[in-house]
Amino acid sequence: MIPSILPTYNRAPLSFETGTGSWLVATDGRRFLDLGAGIAVNALGHAHPALVETLTEQANRIWHLSNLYQIPEQQKLADMLVDLTFADTVFFTNSGTESCELAVKMARRYWSERDPARTRILTFEGCFHGRSSAAIAAAGTEKMTKGFGPLLPGFTQLPFGDHDALREAAQAPDIAAIMVEPVQGEGGIRPLPDACLKGLRDLCDETGALLIFDEVQCGVGRTGRLFAHEWSGATPDIMMVAKGIGGGFPLGAVLATERAAGPMTAGSHGSTYGGNPLGCAVGAKVLEIVSDPDFLVDVNRKAGLLRQKLEGLVSSHPDIFTEVRGTGLMLGLRCKAPNTDLVNAAYAEEILTVAAADNVVRLLPALTITDEDLAEAVDRLDRAAARLEAAA
Ligand SMILES: Cc1ncc(COP(=O)(O)O)c(C=O)c1O
Repeated sequence: MIPSILPTYNRAPLSFETGTGSWLVATDGRRFLDLGAGIAVNALGHAHPALVETLTEQANRIWHLSNLYQIPEQQKLADMLVDLTFADTVFFTNSGTESCELAVKMARRYWSERDPARTRILTFEGCFHGRSSAAIAAAGTEKMTKGFGPLLPGFTQLPFGDHDALREAAQAPDIAAIMVEPVQGEGGIRPLPDACLKGLRDLCDETGALLIFDEVQCGVGRTGRLFAHEWSGATPDIMMVAKGIGGGFPLGAVLATERAAGPMTAGSHGSTYGGNPLGCAVGAKVLEIVSDPDFLVDVNRKAGLLRQKLEGLVSSHPDIFTEVRGTGLMLGLRCKAPNTDLVNAAYAEEILTVAAADNVVRLLPALTITDEDLAEAVDRLDRAAARLEAAA
């Protein structure tokens, strides 16, 4: 008999009752250290007092309106994002997938009157942009697309890191845009070097194609800058955001330059919930905290600390790990043992991690994690690795 929850997830036999900072209390009373942060969502940890206060205050005033009216909380968050980034304009969504939908629509709309043959979007092997028909076509893998055809046409996946293949593909006359994660998350924590992001920008300037950055997982302070691409100095034309921006409240956004967004006129797109007052009030508070330069300095300091400890962990367990990779507080442990074995052993040590492709275990702690909790996390991972060694 099919379960009452559609069984599209292989869930761990764990459930949690409360959370504070980087800690979650399970229904059986065990305390878990959360290094997954809801897959890079709880940027400020669980029950951050400022977010609880903001959400409660907003809930007492107004929950939902409609984009038929002015929404001051939405206006405030849009103005903040425009001030802080490359963008001239913002559309709010409720998830990364919805941000992907709009990014694809915006790129195609941009070309629809300039050169309607330009509809194809180049993406990269290992990418993940969500689960809608457009997003699975963008990924193009059998795992994502099997049984869901006919697929939305107009996406071509290129090998990761093959500059010649990219250069050749980008010259085709039907290319509308190139879409890329500055740091691949689901693909196994694979950062794109700054020189490649700059190279992509140059290539797009040369061919006219729009450059779309997917910062759904790597954005909002995770790499130690407000957005990951800032390290490279290259800016996109369109950027997808979600996850961390809502700190746990479902919120996403598409940020764009005036040029790229120009054809998105009244009636061309919409969302009932997108830009809802609850989400935007929380988002503005998250952004206020994360964009503080001192906050980001501290994220970088902690990232250095964690990385150093993880390098030590990898060298003391050469049969379990092969390398640490990633950037900021978006780190991956590439495993020799099956990564899911490590995730399970970590559950036994009461620490939450997240598996990714390429046999990687992701560590995506709250950006507010304390130094003590980072040290505790590495101790627990050390014990989890020892469990696997003992079982081998
Ligand atoms: C880079 C990236 N883009 C898009 C998505 C889709 O976001 P959502 O699950 O909120 O729809 C994800 C989710 O993991 C992601 O990591």
